[in-house]
Amino acid sequence: MASATRDHFSSRLGVLAATLGSAVGLGNIWKFPSLVGQNGGASFLVVYLLASLCIGLPLMISDLSLGRAGRSNVISIFQKLAPRTGWWLIGLSAIISCLLILGFYSDVAGWVFAYIFKSATGAVSSTDPAVAQASFSSLLNDGPVSLFWQWLVLLLTGGIIMRGASAGIEKVTRILMPVLFLLLVGVCIRSLTLPGASEGLRFLFMPQWERVDASVIMMAMGLAFFKMSLGMGCMLSSYFKEDVNIPLMATRVMICDLLVSLLAGIAIFPAVFSFGFQPAEGPALLFLTIPAVFASMPGGTFFATLFFILSAIASTGAILSLLEVPVAWLSERFSLPRTKAVPILLAGLVLLGLPATLSTGPALQDVKLFGLTFFDLYDALSSTILMPLSGIVTSLFVGYFWKKEHMLAALGGGMPARLVRTLCRTVTPVLITLVLLHGLGII
Ligand code: TRP
Repeated sequence: MASATRDHFSSRLGVLAATLGSAVGLGNIWKFPSLVGQNGGASFLVVYLLASLCIGLPLMISDLSLGRAGRSNVISIFQKLAPRTGWWLIGLSAIISCLLILGFYSDVAGWVFAYIFKSATGAVSSTDPAVAQASFSSLLNDGPVSLFWQWLVLLLTGGIIMRGASAGIEKVTRILMPVLFLLLVGVCIRSLTLPGASEGLRFLFMPQWERVDASVIMMAMGLAFFKMSLGMGCMLSSYFKEDVNIPLMATRVMICDLLVSLLAGIAIFPAVFSFGFQPAEGPALLFLTIPAVFASMPGGTFFATLFFILSAIASTGAILSLLEVPVAWLSERFSLPRTKAVPILLAGLVLLGLPATLSTGPALQDVKLFGLTFFDLYDALSSTILMPLSGIVTSLFVGYFWKKEHMLAALGGGMPARLVRTLCRTVTPVLITLVLLHGLGII
């Protein structure tokens, strides 16, 4: 059976690092600032915090417990825990979400890799918004170059995952997370001491409640799903040992992850206002403002290069955890060695990623489905539709279907386990349903 051959993370710190390695990524430094900037700053932040706490945390605990109890891939976990039922569809939805996310995430990770070189050569070392914009656009407008970077990212991460999950994930993330964290603190300090920095802080911490509407709430919830890698946590925890305290671990991961996002916000928004960028710039925000902050300090070229190297590593960790979901399923379901499963998957991802990447440039930017480019469609479908839907079903599974004693035991018992069970029976599924129906304009 698969469980007998599965390897384990070697230590408790390894578990935390690997789970953080999945959570922390482009979501913190790229997506979070972009959404905060587009949706009114602090008010979005508050809604996002609430969504993380009431929806994200109980679901993350559920996911991790399911994974450890089922010790298998996302589909057969449910076939094991609930044989001859349809609950395995949760796993199918997880695999589809992972593929969609990989389709655009590998594109953005490619931009990060490209920026390592742009920073090292000083090509983006300017505080002038027009220069920064021109440099970013030249990357997006060049389809073959964008594809080159995306494929490089896929090849690199595919190569790591082929060597087995724990080894790859654990090694990459363990040492470098703290370094990225420290560097972010450094960028924050520089950003906060720029002239006019306080306006950025005001934007980040003074709510504009009139900006909160159904679609803002839906996006904040989507971000919580995306950030906490929900629906796929099961994959990681299937490599956990029995003595990991899951509720405590999930809470720690959530707090560390929020902290990194906040630091990214504090690094970016003061600079936005100081240099005259637009807060609602969207996906380009990271790539415009961070090089500008570095350009304004001594040793900027070196630190900017280091920043993008570490960001590339953080996104690699996240991509590994995304890849592991379909890889584990392919190899366990079809009894394929990883050396076969990974190339098959990579070929699929190259095809799936192609329209997303080309849709951020002139080739496909005018092709829209439901009013969205392929890039935005993959993002919206996964974060705001599929993951919330499987969140509802997962919470119902954990709250009602999973036998009470088994569920409580899987979570380690005690008050946290009972609280999660109560939330999964009530608040969590009801909230997600309301947000989803409201956000889609159905109620
Ligand atoms: N959480 C990661 C980030 O913020 C992205 C990610 C990694 C993810 N694994 C996932 C999202 C699984 C959803 C599901 O960058």
